Amino acid sequence: MNDKAELSNASASASMKLIPSGDKKWIILGLIIFVGLFTFPIWYNMLKCSAPIQPVVLSAKAKAAGYCVLPKSEMVSAHMQILDEWRDIVVREGERTYTSPSGKIFTMSLSNTCLDCHNNQAEFCDRCHQYASVKTYCMDCHVNPSKSLKENMQ
Ligand code: HEC
Ligand code: HEC
Ligand code: HEC
Repeated sequence: MNDKAELSNASASASMKLIPSGDKKWIILGLIIFVGLFTFPIWYNMLKCSAPIQPVVLSAKAKAAGYCVLPKSEMVSAHMQILDEWRDIVVREGERTYTSPSGKIFTMSLSNTCLDCHNNQAEFCDRCHQYASVKTYCMDCHVNPSKSLKENMQ
């Protein structure tokens, strides 16, 4: 038998058995690799999400104070409403002093109160907002008192 005949015989028997048993393990291995690569974005994201969240950092000044405007649980869920209220009262009524339910007195100011005590905006406000995919535009106008004038203009 010449080479050509051997080849056509081999391919004939291959197509008859569909897959020669010796090749099966390679095909299965190939499928596993393919499925693994194909679903890469899915399990990559699952791994990423279960990775530990970078915790927000409390500044030394905040730690020393030991309190916020309201208890922490309320601050987490309501700080945006507080800022909105403060803005409205300051801008519409010209009143700048806020007394908390616990009797503490604060000046109603984003820069001079919140960012004075939380003087690490990047590791506190920004880090949490990045994690939660929140974009705020406040700093387009308000200044971060920890930054230089030039940095604030950027
Ligand atoms: C287009 C510019 C601009 C943007 C953007 C802006 N503000 Fe203001 N905001 C002002 C001005 C002007 C005042 C009045 C300043 C004053 O009377 O002391 C003010 C006052 C305030 C006050 C009370 C005074 C103070 O010192 O903070 C708060 C609180 C406040 N804004 C919160 C916010 C928050 C929160 C955001 C983002 C959601 C925001 N602002 C976005 C311009 C802006
Ligand atoms: C005198 C310092 C001080 C001021 C002023 C202050 N905070 Fe706080 N803030 C703290 C402290 C301390 C905590 C942590 C409280 C705790 O762990 O019980 C905190 C907690 C928070 C939290 C929750 C953080 C977390 O880990 O989940 C948010 C959000 C927050 N503050 C936002 C603000 C905003 C917005 C303002 C202005 C309206 C503000 N803070 C003003 C000291 C301050
Ligand atoms: C523990 C996490 C956390 C921290 C810390 C935090 N924020 Fe937020 N902030 C959020 C989340 C989540 C939202 C969105 C809430 C929503 O849309 O209901 C938000 C929303 C806001 C908004 C409203 C944005 C909008 O356009 O609706 C403002 C303003 C804001 N944060 C200011 C601050 C400031 C200033 C600080 C730091 C002093 C701060 N936040 C710290 C989690 C945080």
